Amino acid sequence: MDEKVLAETARKMVAPGRGILAADESTGTIKKRFDSIDVESTEEHRRAYRDLLFTTPGVEEYISGAILFEETLFQATSDGTPFPKLLADRGIVPGIKVDKGAKPLAGAEGETVTEGLDGLRERLTAFREAGALFAKWRAVITIADGLPSEYAIATNAHALARYAALCQEAGITPIVEPEVLMDGDNTIGVCEAVTRQVLDATFEELRLQRVLLEGMVLKPNMVISGKKCPQQASVNEVAEATVRTLRRCVPSAVPGVAFLSGGQSDELATQHLDAMNKLGSAPWALTFSYGRALQAPALKAWGGKSERVEAAQKAFFHRAKLNGLAATGRYSEAMEEAA
Ligand code: 13P
Repeated sequence: MDEKVLAETARKMVAPGRGILAADESTGTIKKRFDSIDVESTEEHRRAYRDLLFTTPGVEEYISGAILFEETLFQATSDGTPFPKLLADRGIVPGIKVDKGAKPLAGAEGETVTEGLDGLRERLTAFREAGALFAKWRAVITIADGLPSEYAIATNAHALARYAALCQEAGITPIVEPEVLMDGDNTIGVCEAVTRQVLDATFEELRLQRVLLEGMVLKPNMVISGKKCPQQASVNEVAEATVRTLRRCVPSAVPGVAFLSGGQSDELATQHLDAMNKLGSAPWALTFSYGRALQAPALKAWGGKSERVEAAQKAFFHRAKLNGLAATGRYSEAMEEAA
């Protein structure tokens, strides 16, 4: 295990004022996104859309890394430059989603375990050769009546750590993503308790499986009210609860925490990140690894039309910049107007 390389990649991914673009929607998920703008999900449309994002002028100032889906890793720009090379040349670290998705967990109604460990060592070697320097694996934890079960938390933590150890063996820095979903009607207090349980279990497994903490990035949910909860916590409540939970669970050897947006609106995801960074010094960088909250305005502006690529790139640049500022607590809502 090359500890230096793993740690250096991790540090680049969470460099001050920059964050990660999650553009690793699986074929099923990108189809849903394209359906929302009436664009057919063909391989060429998916390529053109990722091309638009990755070639956005100036975006490398705020984007440190990009997570790709397997298909995208082997695609190229319109002029034939492989995407991993284009990104690396722009100073954006190329990464790859390696999990095969959350599947029903046997004997646990309503819960899932993320699959993809079989053959992962060989796949990682091929991804590394194609230029991927980091990887992502997402575990999904559901809050509902009587859920999550300890069984689902333990099984997902175990798989996350197995994935992370294999990545580090291959010289690939793992993003460890245990996502507690925000879809329920639970209060922020319940989210805090569950997130704490999930992070504790995850770091216990990472320790047992000898994962180098300096050579990974944590991608957690924010501690937040369930979407259907009538009492929504304020921006400051979310920021305080999230940082408090991380302080309790995440060793300071971890260089950075890059949040998922999880269905928050793009502006709220930026406000939450900014509020956390305004709380003052934390032991780790606090930045973003957003999918929807970075892409939603760009996707809408594009609408599948080549004459709207520039407008879409402007929309993407704007969100990337504002999140980059939020990653150092320098965002203000007035900046939204400047769009
Ligand atoms: P969202 O920011 O849309 O939640 O996506 C981030 C991600 O990569 C989930 O795995």
